[in-house]
Amino acid sequence: MLPRRDFIQRAAFAAALLGIPFQRAEQILCTQSVPFPSRDLLSSDPLRYWTGLRAQWLLAPDRINLNCGSVGCSPLPVLRAMIDHILSAEEYREPAYPWFGYEENDRLHALRDSLAAYLHVNRDELALVRNATEANNVVVNGLDLKPGDEVLLTDQEHPGGRCPWEQKAARFGVKLNTVVLPKPPASTEEIVERFQNALTPKTRVVFFSHITTVTGVILPAKEICGLARSRGVLTQVDGAHAIGQIPLDLHDIDCDFYASSPHKWLMAPKGTGTLYIRDERLKDLWVNIATANWNNYDMKAYRFSWFGTSNLSVMVGLKAALDFHQQLGPDVVYARIHELASQVRERVARYPQLSITNASADRFYGGLVTFEPNQGKGKLDLKPVMDQCASRNIRVAGGPDHIRIATHIFTQPVELDTFYTALDAGLA
Ligand SMILES: Cc1ncc(COP(=O)(O)O)c(C=O)c1O
Repeated sequence: MLPRRDFIQRAAFAAALLGIPFQRAEQILCTQSVPFPSRDLLSSDPLRYWTGLRAQWLLAPDRINLNCGSVGCSPLPVLRAMIDHILSAEEYREPAYPWFGYEENDRLHALRDSLAAYLHVNRDELALVRNATEANNVVVNGLDLKPGDEVLLTDQEHPGGRCPWEQKAARFGVKLNTVVLPKPPASTEEIVERFQNALTPKTRVVFFSHITTVTGVILPAKEICGLARSRGVLTQVDGAHAIGQIPLDLHDIDCDFYASSPHKWLMAPKGTGTLYIRDERLKDLWVNIATANWNNYDMKAYRFSWFGTSNLSVMVGLKAALDFHQQLGPDVVYARIHELASQVRERVARYPQLSITNASADRFYGGLVTFEPNQGKGKLDLKPVMDQCASRNIRVAGGPDHIRIATHIFTQPVELDTFYTALDAGLA
């Protein structure tokens, strides 16, 4: 147990860092960790289990976050790990600090081991970066392509994946082709067939989001990658939303590159990202940021994490986030996220003036529900709903043309009720 003096120091620091009153920081961070509710409750009284678990988050009672698709809420063990690391580093108790961005110290080694086991890849195929946007750029800017080579992207890519390719096309004469995704898709075959029809003999790379950013659809990554591989085409998957939202097995998906942003659904500290690079592809990529070891191929994927001094404390928090997730159990987390999303879908489906953009089959959605005004309903826009949400301090993603709701394990049924009230009022 930490001495009282250290607790107070931690609370003072957390209060300044997180912008919360000292008393609140002391209450939350000065005690020993908040225990999880008994696991038995999960089957006997799940509502009490999930209500009890909410004590793990700092999230204020008068704020509702239904947008962890942008950034998630880090639970207390993650904040503690990060804050303790900052304090200990500033006291120069961390021998390896500040060498993230250079040597792989013991903490990073352990983190990559845990992440690799979780994602079902080898540690040597995993680079630590700052977010999915950076991971995507490492791939796009690192690949040699020549004028006339073609890249196939979907029409639903986030700028963090689409724009690196746009720049590549503008600089190097690479041609971008677009596959228009069905909205909503009826079947896996329908999606794969569209990719199949859009491939040409000049396609070198297929790029798509594992979970689309606006519509929240889970794309059949394994089937798309299988198709591309059968044509000798590289696959780059933007999994910004996937890590922590759905179970992942990247070797089973069989892609060449996979980017993720654990600060979303894995609830890691902001500014953490991972990049999987298939072993055979490691030598095909140039680094984006060159410093020592830029061409040390023996370093495998860690060559791409060698980009100058960076923030080790957030990586310590990423390890804590993964431990938190594993402690709860990825399947339990997924089941809860998905169950809440199903409830939101069911509720939204009651409005004849709205359409849900991700398909109804379970395999097409995880914790995201996106809806938009029905085609042909003239001037209906969703701004009044957005305004009603804002007036109740509910964070959602979207605007007048669509709204995206993200449900996570910290989401409480009463918060969803508040959202339904906002929806009713906005559509009245
Ligand atoms: C599919 C996709 N890719 C990339 C990003 C960008 O994420 P980040 O800002 O963490 O790089 C997002 C963000 O929502 C996204 O949905």
